[in-house]
Amino acid sequence: NKKAFIFDLDGVIVDTAKYHFLAWQKIAQSLNINFTHEDNELLKGVSRVRSLDIILGLGNVQASQEDKDKWLIQKNEDYLSYLVDMDESEVLPGVLKILKLLKEKNQGIALGSASKNARPILEKTGVLSYFDVIVDGNDVTNAKPDPEVFLKAAQLLHIDPKNSIVFEDSVAGIQAANIAEMVSVGIGEETILHEADHIFKDFTQIETSFINDLISQ
Ligand code: G6P
Ligand code: MG
Repeated sequence: NKKAFIFDLDGVIVDTAKYHFLAWQKIAQSLNINFTHEDNELLKGVSRVRSLDIILGLGNVQASQEDKDKWLIQKNEDYLSYLVDMDESEVLPGVLKILKLLKEKNQGIALGSASKNARPILEKTGVLSYFDVIVDGNDVTNAKPDPEVFLKAAQLLHIDPKNSIVFEDSVAGIQAANIAEMVSVGIGEETILHEADHIFKDFTQIETSFINDLISQ
């Protein structure tokens, strides 16, 4: 039995969600827009361009395309500055164990991320070689909750969406997986990710038997 195991990146494999938040917060502050951790949930899984629009919307700020482009560059430069020293230690707890288990069991492993920075992050953290397929923000036109990114990943692995499992920390990503009729596994808080088929606080909570059951189903 071969299944497709599709992983989101930010907040699932690596703890970069906190850096996205810090970088967006600087932009928001410079525009006098109040931007909280709660607001940040809306940005998880959402593209850079759309994230800026959401933040501007929170502050009812209208801006020219020129200004928006400038802020998008600023945000990414600031975000990348947090990643300079990134190494293996930033892989979230329990992730490696699951990746190794899936490799041992000869399962399809894919990345399904909205980020345009995905490859260098996977490289820096030493997990790139686990992935058979990478679909990221450079490969898709429709952002989560559109299922395009996950459907493309399954297709490249030659595995049916119904035989695919998605690990996600964002509401938009869980919705995308559900729309694609894949098994959705939420990584994070139950109150936020309640639409997921299964929810775990983090990967250390996922037992080998849970993965084995998914493989044999
Ligand atoms: C992920 C993150 C979002 C981020 C998006 C784009 O989905 O959850 O917070 O905005 O990727 O990432 P990028 O690295 O291209 O700005
Ligand atoms: Mg995420």
